[in-house]
Amino acid sequence: MRSNNQGVGREDLSILQKILNELSKPFVGREEEARVILLALLTKEHAVLIGEPGTAKSALIRRAAQILKMKCFTYLLTKYTEPAELFGPLDINALKDGKYVRITSNKLPEAEIAFLDEIFKANSAILNTLLTIMNERLFYDGYTEIRVALWSLFGASNEVPQEPELEALYDRFLLRHYVKPLQDELWKQLLKKAWDIERFGYQPPEVTIDKSVLERLHKMLFEVSFSAVETKLLKVFSVLESKNIHLTDRRKGKALKVIAANAILNGRFQASEEDLMVLKFIAPHDIDDFEKVNIILSEELRTPYKYLRELEDIAVSIKEVGNYIASFPSVNSRFVEYRLLEIYRDLESTRDRVLSMMRESSDEKVQKKAMEVVEQINDLLEKIKKKIEGR
Ligand SMILES: Nc1ncnc2c1ncn2[C@@H]1O[C@H](COP(=O)(O)OP(=O)(O)OP(=O)(O)O)[C@@H](O)[C@H]1O
Ligand SMILES: [Mg+2]
Repeated sequence: MRSNNQGVGREDLSILQKILNELSKPFVGREEEARVILLALLTKEHAVLIGEPGTAKSALIRRAAQILKMKCFTYLLTKYTEPAELFGPLDINALKDGKYVRITSNKLPEAEIAFLDEIFKANSAILNTLLTIMNERLFYDGYTEIRVALWSLFGASNEVPQEPELEALYDRFLLRHYVKPLQDELWKQLLKKAWDIERFGYQPPEVTIDKSVLERLHKMLFEVSFSAVETKLLKVFSVLESKNIHLTDRRKGKALKVIAANAILNGRFQASEEDLMVLKFIAPHDIDDFEKVNIILSEELRTPYKYLRELEDIAVSIKEVGNYIASFPSVNSRFVEYRLLEIYRDLESTRDRVLSMMRESSDEKVQKKAMEVVEQINDLLEKIKKKIEGR
């Protein structure tokens, strides 16, 4: 439940954190992928994982389907996949009466969560139906328009689609993530986890989530305030555009939802600059874009990493000021007193800066470090005060 208008209720927050954990638990280094999946679920959008074979894309999405107590439909596409395989066979009895309808039970039109592996193998026979299901949440059965219950569709693929006819399908995945193979420092852990998976199989998830909870979490998005980030978001759109990263209007319009979802995931109803980092899942189109966008955003945005670096720098200079003060003679002249007062005022404004960082960032490490620096400043202020008072 919500505790106040600043923080998401503890209960909801703990569900989200538990699910993030549960999703990535069997894998090594797949926390970011788990976040993308959760962002898609919170926003009721679609996500695609792109990457070389064997990077656990399918395994991750299958695990998400296990965690969700929702109706799932999973299918591996080939370029020969027929409409009946996804949308259900034609109803022969109805056909005898001249009606053209499909038997959709246990097929995509009845699914709440869908996983289409090798999604970009979709051929023209299934493409249009897929596009309408994904965007309008509508399925045309003969002449009848049926509203489908699809919440999110997940796709996996080894590559970004090159064919222009797949562009509309690709654009419907608001979230796109490039799954990189693990770096060498994680190989040892990989051996252990992969061994466990081979030996015991995947352990069933300990936490599950049902649709009503997801619906409640989804509604929370619309309570998030963006006043602190709107101007910056527009600026980032321009910077990306100037570097040839083009977001379609659909993607620009929907970006706020993902930003809101990230704020909720971080326990806030107030979007902050670090939430704009989710643009790295929205802006890239080609494979090269993923790294490019990441770099642009890291330069443009005040991320936890940036705050931590600034706090480190402040901590070092406070230490230097402390040594300088210690070497000061006792206050024996107007000049020394004046100098100390000047340093005192500077330290107070540095403390204001650190306190505003604490307000801006919700990152735990930033909070902890900022608290330490504030204490360090307070100690020094106390010392200066005593020095001036001649004690
Ligand atoms: N990061 C990882 N941590 C633990 N196990 C992993 C990891 N990456 C791969 N594996 C192991 O490799 C298996 C292959 O993963 P999976 O089939 O999901 O890959 P994929 O990315 O879908 O490949 P493809 O593109 O060929 O379909 C997993 O089931 C798991 O056993
Ligand atoms: Mg796969």
